Amino acid sequence: MEKLEKVFNDIFETNATGNYFAPGRINLIGEHTDYNGGHVFPASITLGTYGLASKREDQLVCLYSENFPEKGVITFSIDELNYEKAHDWANYPKGMIRFLKEAGHLIDSGVNIVFYGNIPNGAGLSSSASIELLTGVILEDLFALSIERLDLVKIGKQVENEFIGVNSGIMDQFAIGMGKKDHALLLDTTTLKYEVVPAIFGEYVVAIMNTNKRRELADSKYNERRGECEEALRRLQTQLAIQTLGELDEVTFLANTELIGDETLIKRAKHAVTENQRTLKARQALQKDDLVTFGELLNASHASLKEAYQVTGMELDTLVTAAQKHPSVLGARMTGAGFGGCAIALVKQTDWQDFVETVSNEYLDKIGYATDIYQASIDDGARKL
Ligand code: GLA
Repeated sequence: MEKLEKVFNDIFETNATGNYFAPGRINLIGEHTDYNGGHVFPASITLGTYGLASKREDQLVCLYSENFPEKGVITFSIDELNYEKAHDWANYPKGMIRFLKEAGHLIDSGVNIVFYGNIPNGAGLSSSASIELLTGVILEDLFALSIERLDLVKIGKQVENEFIGVNSGIMDQFAIGMGKKDHALLLDTTTLKYEVVPAIFGEYVVAIMNTNKRRELADSKYNERRGECEEALRRLQTQLAIQTLGELDEVTFLANTELIGDETLIKRAKHAVTENQRTLKARQALQKDDLVTFGELLNASHASLKEAYQVTGMELDTLVTAAQKHPSVLGARMTGAGFGGCAIALVKQTDWQDFVETVSNEYLDKIGYATDIYQASIDDGARKL
């Protein structure tokens, strides 16, 4: 923080009036279900994005990131809020300002903001949603906006969908906006009703394992998967009165696959349906302290993401297989969009060191570069510090 304060002072020749933080997130289970009307089970983590900010006298928004010093200070007016490729990472905060204004919130002067994130870049831990919600809480505070947290979450999603062009669901912004220390959020993405569930795993801890492979194809493949699910749904709707794939149980789905009539589309929809069911079962298992079943559900989730949804890839599969083979692991799966990024595993705390060494060595052997493994700590959502 002290270092960031100095950076702020050097650049803007004034003091920041507030310090803020927005976490990243992991998803325990419920992957690629949030745009299919299913359930997700994410949690906000201690890795995230810090922001220092102050209001300006003029109409300029001046943004600087310690993660991208080569981009310098990115400057635009609060009256010129269009997407600009050259503005790179700053399009996330820019989109937030734009949609907050469009929602009727009064932002009537410029701002200075310094950002610094310790979420590994492109790791699938939602660094973009973290920047969005961070910007949201900064503006909420600086301009004394009266805004429901859920509305801030929805505006974050709107930025992703309409400003950046990724057709993502609401999971990331929801987890980051609503997160609670030591809890995961079981969210029904159709009704937005949610339950705050203690994420306490007894002798076990959650490992985050980074493939260190950037999710390069993520955005285009992500939109492609979403399109495939929508097409499968359209075909099912010719006979079934459903609004989303999340409404189907497995038996009804299997009895109706001939309506879809295409092997790839059936696989995609099957993942969406079964993953939603697994998420509900995982919540029950956690309630009963049945970590063995919880772990098995994580493994089944990964298998489905690999075979039916086809969003894993060699790096994620190598990490997850290595983790699953380890005797102190109850389960492991990719987390987030896939195609690289991170996986999680439920690991016995006392065997942590051996787990890290075994998985790291196997990954290095097979892939040729290193993984990074750390313990996840679950912390509160976006906030003023
Ligand atoms: C990304 C999206 C989320 C969700 C996950 C997959 O993180 O932003 O909305 O769809 O992928 O579960």
